[in-house]
Amino acid sequence: MLVNNKTIRDVDVSGKRILVRVDFNVPVKEGRIGDDTRIVKALPTIKYLKDEGAKIILVTHLGRPKGKVVPEMSVELLASYLSKLLGERVMFVADCGGEESHKVTAEMKAGQIVLLENVRFYPGEERNDPDFAKGLASLADIYVNDAFGTAHRAHASTEGVAKFLPAVAGFLMEKEILALSEVLEKPGNPFVVILGGAKVSDKISVIENLLKKAHCLLIGGAMANTFLKAQGHKMGTSKIEIDKLEIANKLLKKAEELGVKVILPQDVVVAKEFSAEAQTKIESVNEIPDGWMALDIGPKTVQAFSKAIEKAQTIVWNGPLGVYEFEKFAIGTKQIAKAAASAQGKTIIGGGDVVAAVEKTGLSEKIYHISTGGGASLEFLEGKILPGVDAILKK
Ligand code: 3PG
Repeated sequence: MLVNNKTIRDVDVSGKRILVRVDFNVPVKEGRIGDDTRIVKALPTIKYLKDEGAKIILVTHLGRPKGKVVPEMSVELLASYLSKLLGERVMFVADCGGEESHKVTAEMKAGQIVLLENVRFYPGEERNDPDFAKGLASLADIYVNDAFGTAHRAHASTEGVAKFLPAVAGFLMEKEILALSEVLEKPGNPFVVILGGAKVSDKISVIENLLKKAHCLLIGGAMANTFLKAQGHKMGTSKIEIDKLEIANKLLKKAEELGVKVILPQDVVVAKEFSAEAQTKIESVNEIPDGWMALDIGPKTVQAFSKAIEKAQTIVWNGPLGVYEFEKFAIGTKQIAKAAASAQGKTIIGGGDVVAAVEKTGLSEKIYHISTGGGASLEFLEGKILPGVDAILKK
């Protein structure tokens, strides 16, 4: 998928100013960084460029400030965090594409690293404004996109800028594209897809695309409620997308036609309220009492899912299988995380909650590929061409 001459290995970066779009959109709470995976995974690109004597200009977004300066979303704290990880100074520039960043980047020495202010403080970023993209491009000699997590956005720093500079992929971008392409192009047999999350509507395209390739589809999370309802189960007060019953039925029919086995929950953990403290019980999907809602998959379902996972050669998983924010309803997701991590086959996971669940098992090093992109990996698996990837490939 990624042709050879499109990565940082294949361009001469020595002494050049390299604009590197990273995705450091990490959780920040009260000034503290939570999960730093996205920063850590960008280190190989940064270190390589440094060793090659490049001048490294990092650009990222953080949160959704919507084109305005939101002080709590400044990336200054990321510069100090990265400095600590690298063991050397990363200079923060309180501007992105303006006078200050021009001044600083013009004076950079080989091996120096700067991090520009949150690119989404500028309205031109999300609008993919050509003038804004040109301004960013004028800071550098080469553009490197290592922000797979944001590759599904056609923004100035992910897509527009590539029109004005030689553009190549960083190592993280390359790794993500190779792993996800492998699944789409040559999945192992059996190929098991696990899908969860709240809405069927978010997953229709990925189901349609993967039904053509998968052998077995395991569905959990609130989206399973809609499928169960479509099959005629009484779902109590469970969250259902009433307007998606027809499409759920169509997808089940399509799976049948294609010979893809679909495993839906056979038992669920139910509660009367949507609350972390709610009293719970396990019920068969045929016996959900009135006034109760399904909030997690039950033990029999865990067993059935685990059995399918055990035999799989390729496993792709996106979306939690219960209300993962509440400890009581995170059990199914955690158990399936254990099954996926101990499986023989290659497992590829994406999406924050599932990644967190797998990391908690302590078995994440057994996972073939943990994607740094939630939305981006989903769109890739839908078969879409991501604008951030396309921009590099087109060069
Ligand atoms: C993400 O966290 O999925 C990416 O950084 C993209 O962020 P966005 O959904 O705000 O565009």
